Amino acid sequence: MKTQLLNENQIEIAAEIIKNGGLVALPTETVYGLGADALNGKAVASIFAAKGRPMDNPLIVHISNISQVYALVREFPDKAKKLAEKYWPGPLTMIMKKSDIIPDEVSAGLDTVAVRFPSHPVAQKLITLSHTPIAAPSANISGHPSPTSFEHVKADMYGKIDAIIDGGCCSVGVESTVITLAGEKPRLLRPGGITLEQLESVIGEVEVDKAVFDKPNDNEKVASPGMKYKHYAPNAKVVILNGETDAYIEYVNARAEQGVCALCYNEDVKRLKVPCVSYGSISDFSQQAQHLFDALRELDEIGAKLVFARCPAPDGVGMAVYNRLIRAAGFEVINI
Ligand code: TXA
Ligand code: MG
Repeated sequence: MKTQLLNENQIEIAAEIIKNGGLVALPTETVYGLGADALNGKAVASIFAAKGRPMDNPLIVHISNISQVYALVREFPDKAKKLAEKYWPGPLTMIMKKSDIIPDEVSAGLDTVAVRFPSHPVAQKLITLSHTPIAAPSANISGHPSPTSFEHVKADMYGKIDAIIDGGCCSVGVESTVITLAGEKPRLLRPGGITLEQLESVIGEVEVDKAVFDKPNDNEKVASPGMKYKHYAPNAKVVILNGETDAYIEYVNARAEQGVCALCYNEDVKRLKVPCVSYGSISDFSQQAQHLFDALRELDEIGAKLVFARCPAPDGVGMAVYNRLIRAAGFEVINI
C-alpha cells in the first residue's frame, strides 16, 4: 500500500481518508495514534490487521468536543464529568458503559468504551474535519515501544496504512492515563500524564488496579486487556536495577562487555563505562516520560544485547514511567 506523508496543512486530505474508511496515523500530545472512523466496524478491524494487534484488546475513541461523549456512552457519570471539566482536553482516558453505536470491533466484546479528548491541535482538527469520533491505538507494531515521533511511525507503519501526519515530537511521551468509571469505585488501569494524585484531588479515592504494578498470571482476567501483553520491548533484553546511583554504576561497570548497554539518567553518563542511552534527569519524571520510548528504540539502533536500566520511584508521573519500563523488562528487576 502507498502511504501518503502529510504535514499539518494537509489535514483535510487525512479527513477524507478517515471518512472513506481508511487508516491515518496522527500526532497527539501523548504518543502517535493509528486512527480510523470509530463508528465504522470494518475500518476499525483494519487497525488490528495493520498493527498485528490481538482482537480482544479494545481501542480508545477520540473526540474533539466534550458534547460528543453523550452519543458514545449509556451514562456520563458525575465523577467523569468532573474529571472532564478539569483534565479534558488532555492525556486522560475514561472508561464508561458504552452506547449501541459503538461497534464490537472497538470495544472487543466488552460492554464499556474508553473515551479521550486529546489536546493536540492536529488531532482535534482531524476529528472535527472527519465529522466522526476516531478510534486509535498507539501507532506502533503490537509489542514495540509506542511512537513519539514521525520517524518512529514511519519505521513501524510505512506501507501498511493510508497516511501519516507529521506533527513533530509528542510532549507527554507516554500514553494517556486510563481510569474506569464503569464499576462501583473509580479504578486506575494505566498510569499516565495525569497522575493518581491529580485524579484523587477531583473525585476522591481511586483504586489502583493490580495490573499497574504486577505481572498478570497467564489465565487471569485483567480489567484492561492491553496490560496483559508484552509491551514496549526493544530487541535487547532489558533488566531493571533497583538501587542507589553508586550501586548502579558499580554493578554495570563490573559487567562491561560487548553488547552491554545502560538505559540511565543524564547524570550517570559520565561515570559509566558502557554505551549509554539516557532518558532524562534523575529528578525530572516528566522529562523521563517524554524520552523513554525514544530511548528504548535507540537501544536497538546502537545494537544493544543486554540493557541495564534505571527505574524511577513510582510517584507522580514516575508511576507511568515505572509501569512502562517494567513491561519493557518483562518484569525482571534486580535489587542491588
Ligand atoms: O495516549 C493514548 O492513550 C494513545 C493515544 C493515541 O491516544 N492511545 C493508546 O491506545 O495508548 P492503546 O490502544 O495503545 O492503549 C489503550 C489501552 C489498552 O491497554 C486497552 O486494553 C485499554 O486502553 N482499553 C481500551 N478500551 C478499554 C475498555 N473498554 N476497558 C478496559 N480497557 C480498555
Ligand atoms: Mg499501545
